[in-house]
Amino acid sequence: MNSVFDRFAKKGVFPYQFAFTLLIPLRNLFLSPKKLIQRLELKENYNVLEIGPGPGYFSAKVAKSIPHGILTLTDIQKEMLDIAKKRLSKKNIFNVEYHLCNGIDFPFESNKFDVIYMVTVLGEIENKQQYVKEFYRIMCPNGNLSISEQAGDPDKMSIDEIKNLLLDSGFEFDKFYGTENNFTINFRKK
Ligand SMILES: C[S@@+](CC[C@H](N)C(=O)[O-])C[C@H]1O[C@@H](n2cnc3c(N)ncnc32)[C@H](O)[C@@H]1O
Repeated sequence: MNSVFDRFAKKGVFPYQFAFTLLIPLRNLFLSPKKLIQRLELKENYNVLEIGPGPGYFSAKVAKSIPHGILTLTDIQKEMLDIAKKRLSKKNIFNVEYHLCNGIDFPFESNKFDVIYMVTVLGEIENKQQYVKEFYRIMCPNGNLSISEQAGDPDKMSIDEIKNLLLDSGFEFDKFYGTENNFTINFRKK
């Protein structure tokens, strides 16, 4: 079996034992929570879903930006959700729901979310096509699906790979921010 150090350095699900490395403020050089918020185009009452929040580096700012809405965090590792919950509760942020996902589908009603976003997650997802199908189902019409990737992530997907995956599934390209190495791409549900 691969050691946790191997799993940290190689492709695959990011081990929760290294969650602390995702909380280093130096990350802001590539993408800060503030910059992400601008790219998500949030409104105060939005229903927002974050896929793979890990320890929640971006989640606190997003939840604060939707004081009359709800942020749902869904991760495949319970330990990550536990860390995120502890961090957000400490900051008195409670408009957040936590959901441990099964890697296949989601128990959410159709057309529920105004925004679905993920940062350095898509490449780790095993059943990408199935997930994207689910994103389409649970996203409201004209909702924003926002995908951010960062340099140095062994699972980083290229702009073309992401576009091919999403455009084949009924989403249309909306906006691009950043560079080839560090970027956010927004898609809209047609
Ligand atoms: C590299 S971490 C990024 C965490 C966070 N987005 C950030 O940028 O700080 C990837 C996260 O995606 C989660 N993940 C991997 N596969 C997943 C899946 N199929 N469904 C939901 N979460 C998943 C991992 O458990 C991990 O928390």
